[in-house]
Amino acid sequence: MKNRMMDISVKAAAADAAAFKADLLAIGVFEDGCCCAATAAVNKKMGDPLGRLKRLGDFEGKPQTTALVYSDGKLAAARVLFVGLGEKAKCDAQALRKAAAAAASQATAMKAKTVGLLLCGGDAAAAGQALAEGACFGAYRYDEYIAGADKKRSAALTAVILAADEKELAAVKKGAAVGVITGAAQNAARTLANRPANVITPATLAAEAKKVAAKTRGLRCTVLDEKQLAAKKMGGILAVGQGSQNPPRLMLLHYKPAKTTAKTPKIALVGKAITFDSGGISIKPGEGMQDMKFDKSGGIAVLYAMRAIAQLKPNAEVIGLIPSAENLPGGKSYRPGDIITTFSGTTVEIQNTDAEGRMILCDAIAYAKTLGCKTIVDVATLTGACVVAIGTQRAGLMSNDEGLIAQLKAASTATGERVWHLPCDDEYVEAMKSKVADLKNTGGKWAGACTAAGFLSQFAEGAKWAHLDIAGVGVWGAGEKDAPGSIGFGVRLLTAFVCGGK
Ligand code: BES
Ligand code: MN
Ligand code: ZN
Repeated sequence: MKNRMMDISVKAAAADAAAFKADLLAIGVFEDGCCCAATAAVNKKMGDPLGRLKRLGDFEGKPQTTALVYSDGKLAAARVLFVGLGEKAKCDAQALRKAAAAAASQATAMKAKTVGLLLCGGDAAAAGQALAEGACFGAYRYDEYIAGADKKRSAALTAVILAADEKELAAVKKGAAVGVITGAAQNAARTLANRPANVITPATLAAEAKKVAAKTRGLRCTVLDEKQLAAKKMGGILAVGQGSQNPPRLMLLHYKPAKTTAKTPKIALVGKAITFDSGGISIKPGEGMQDMKFDKSGGIAVLYAMRAIAQLKPNAEVIGLIPSAENLPGGKSYRPGDIITTFSGTTVEIQNTDAEGRMILCDAIAYAKTLGCKTIVDVATLTGACVVAIGTQRAGLMSNDEGLIAQLKAASTATGERVWHLPCDDEYVEAMKSKVADLKNTGGKWAGACTAAGFLSQFAEGAKWAHLDIAGVGVWGAGEKDAPGSIGFGVRLLTAFVCGGK
């Protein structure tokens, strides 16, 4: 029996925090001094618990720390959670997002129905968005297959962002409205990524994509099945998919603004969706192989970024391409030594069937160019080498265009989804040249993340292209304790990249 996922809603109000009725009232506290006037007023009304906490050294406002106290009838809310915001000068949108997440997670664990968020700082709209996103993120649990797990947490949670200053309410509301869209998209991505490979196959993923598009105004979805992929000569996707009983798919999602001109940019977002990566004939070691259900995370990030984009309506035409296959060993699998003719006509010698992500991405990237996309961003759990190089907190970013790098870095700063620029020089491409075909699919011992990017760059020539390697952040989920598994990395980053300041 499957449990119902939690319902999370977010509102903004200009209520007096002391009179605000809630199961939990979360209050932001800086390391250096209290916070805003509203916080100080609530603390005073309660008889200065914050002073006692600080004197005892139990709570100092450090980031990611909290202290729970009971209001004993002095406030309308039953409980108060002081949430550390760190140093006041360093308090940015990401600090607010994390504080809201910590509050929402504790609210969820105590089965609260409502949580008030009195967490101030910075630009009102940006704060509203970050708080809404953080509340969604923190309240999330993945427990649909654990009997009774839904009884141990809130069934539904309403987070209310309390604007301390009535003049800022309109801006906070506007930001929160965006944050609800991006936060919900991120959580939906987490659920799909967390589902196992016996549930999510290329075909069921395509059915989900169709469902998402049917429910989202302005978003269209078409799916190419294995016959249509063969007709289009998508040799890379077909080769990877041929070893599985679950045949491959290519999903296309399309958002077009109401009015377009010749100047309207046409952007492709391409996401790797390997529903399970056993390695194929070049099979992986058994330990940890279960994590390879997350190898579809890039594609799922694209799916839900497309939903958020269609809801936010930027002035850009966007095509989401999601190649999907299951990489299994079997009598029909592709093998080391095979030479594959990919969609662009470029031939690839297979050296390792476990380097399958680039084989499905190369077809989708080349196809995006035939659709007229001049800017292409791909996102993929592509290489273990990227994790070795930079760990689980940042995605690798490679690109052939400085402007695109700057845009993605700006989106990264705004969303708190961190990236790190890695090289993609000609020498890495050189390492991918084959003696029997145009390219080979592995590049030797060193810099595996860079040689993989070098391979992809060959299919993006003529377009501005960037590649996000999310192997570390997409698979190990950056160590979230309350909701282990997918963190839906990339949904907010891609949405912010396309929608800019919107
Ligand atoms: N999906 C994996 C990459 C991966 C590894 C993601 C670990 C997350 C955690 C990818 O398909 C893969 O197997 N890459 C190989 C490439 C190699 C054979 C050139 C790798 O990284 O070992
Ligand atoms: Mn692989
Ligand atoms: Zn893979």
